[in-house]
Order: sequence, then C-alpha cells, then structure tokens
Amino acid sequence: MRDEARDQRGSMPAHVAIIMDGNGRWAERRGMSRLNGHRKGAEVVREVVRACPELGLRHLTLFAFSTENWKRPAREVLGLMALFRRYIRAEADELASKGVRVRFIGERGRLHPSLQKLMAALETRTAGNDELVLTIALNYGGRDELARAARALARRVAAGEIEADAVTGDSLAAELDTCGLPDPDLVIRTSGEMRISNFLLWQAAYAEYAFIDALWPDFGAPEFERVLAEFAKRERRFGAVTA
Ligand code: FPP
Repeated sequence: MRDEARDQRGSMPAHVAIIMDGNGRWAERRGMSRLNGHRKGAEVVREVVRACPELGLRHLTLFAFSTENWKRPAREVLGLMALFRRYIRAEADELASKGVRVRFIGERGRLHPSLQKLMAALETRTAGNDELVLTIALNYGGRDELARAARALARRVAAGEIEADAVTGDSLAAELDTCGLPDPDLVIRTSGEMRISNFLLWQAAYAEYAFIDALWPDFGAPEFERVLAEFAKRERRFGAVTA
C-alpha cells in the first residue's frame, strides 16, 4: 500500500461497490470476442478481491450481471454464466481459506439451477468468515430488488403480521437482498460512463461516486488504491453542514 493510502486508513470506506464496465470495448479494440473481455475482467476481479485485506476494506460489492443483461446475444449470456460457474469453482478454496464471506444479491430464479447450487454452496461454506464480505450482484436490478421487497412487505401486511402504517425505511431495507450489509460509501464505475444503471438504488443514497476512465480489464489493484486514497480526502456531510 502506498504511504498516502496507509496514512488515511481512518477515512477508508467500509464498503465499496463497483460497476465493472468496459469488458466488451476492451476486447473489441483488440479484435477479440467480447467474451475474452469478460474473461480478462474475471482476472481483474481476482486481483481486486485479493487487494482488499491490505487496503483495510471489509465490504466489496461487484455488479456482475444485471436484470437488463439478458438482452445481450445468447452466446454472450451463456458465456458469462459459464464464466460465473468457473469463477466460483476456481476461487472457492482460496476465498474460503482467506476468510472471505461470499454472498450473492439479485433474483436467483432465472439463473440455471447448476449455478444457483454453486452460489448457495459457496455462501454456506463461507458463512462463518468475516475478513471481507464479497457480495456479487447476479441478475440484480435495483428496481427489481425494491419491487420484491415491497411485495414481501405487502404480504406481511396482508397476513396481519405488521400494520401498513408501521412500514418504515428500516423495515423496507430489512427486506432488501443486502439486508445486514452497511450501505456503500463509495460506488466506482469504470469505462468513463457516468450512470448508475439500476445498481443499489436504495443503498447508495449517500454514496460518493468515482467515475474512472479505465476499462474494467485495465483496472487493477494500483488504480483501486488510488481511487480509495482520493475518496479519503472527500468531505461527506450526509445532508448536514460542516461543524
Ligand atoms: C460490463 O461490461 C460487464 C459485464 C456485463 C460483466 C461483468 C463481468 C465480469 C467482470 C466477469 C467476471 C465477474 C465475476 C464476478 C467473476 P460490458 O460488456 O458492458 O462492456 P462494454 O460497455 O464495453 O460493452
């Protein structure tokens, strides 16, 4: 870790969420198939996850596949699903032994049962870990998550478990896939695009944003550290005024 980042560890974010964008462009610029870009992107995932303990980061959330990504060509979708399966199989031992707890957010019903099984097994295997909580968003959309939470609350009201007037922000948050996770302090998006694309709509209400020009396959631990050091200098007011 560079001195600059180490000196400011007190201001390090507790939770960083990343929109990993630019795999397709990275590959196309090299005359390669988009899937090759995703494969390189998976290597960067490994590098960034490995960097977290040294950076003092306890929560990392990665946007791997959105509810809108099904609109991509079938070949790319199938390739991505195969990549997720391969990543889980290849990384499970290291993640488990390094104290990483893995959890998945998103709607699982549309994922292939074999992938769902691998996800559930990795969650169970790593449930007791707490060095780093790695959350992977798979078939995730913020609006879909909020709609599912609203349905869950409506069912509880209909069943007479809670009063409609007792529904609060906290009770809604407790029905979200991210229940138990701190809200992200920082959301990073690579590839120069300045959009949030339906990612953590509720949770990122007070997050800082960092839009990075590098395409995801060109991102890595040094760039990650630089973004965190820049975050540490920001003043966050959460709607209040500075003392
Ligand atoms: C967006 O880039 C990226 C994705 C839709 C997939 C993200 C997946 C990975 C980084 C692979 C591995 C992930 C895990 C968790 C193992 P894009 O294809 O939209 O890029 P473009 O905007 O340049 O087309």
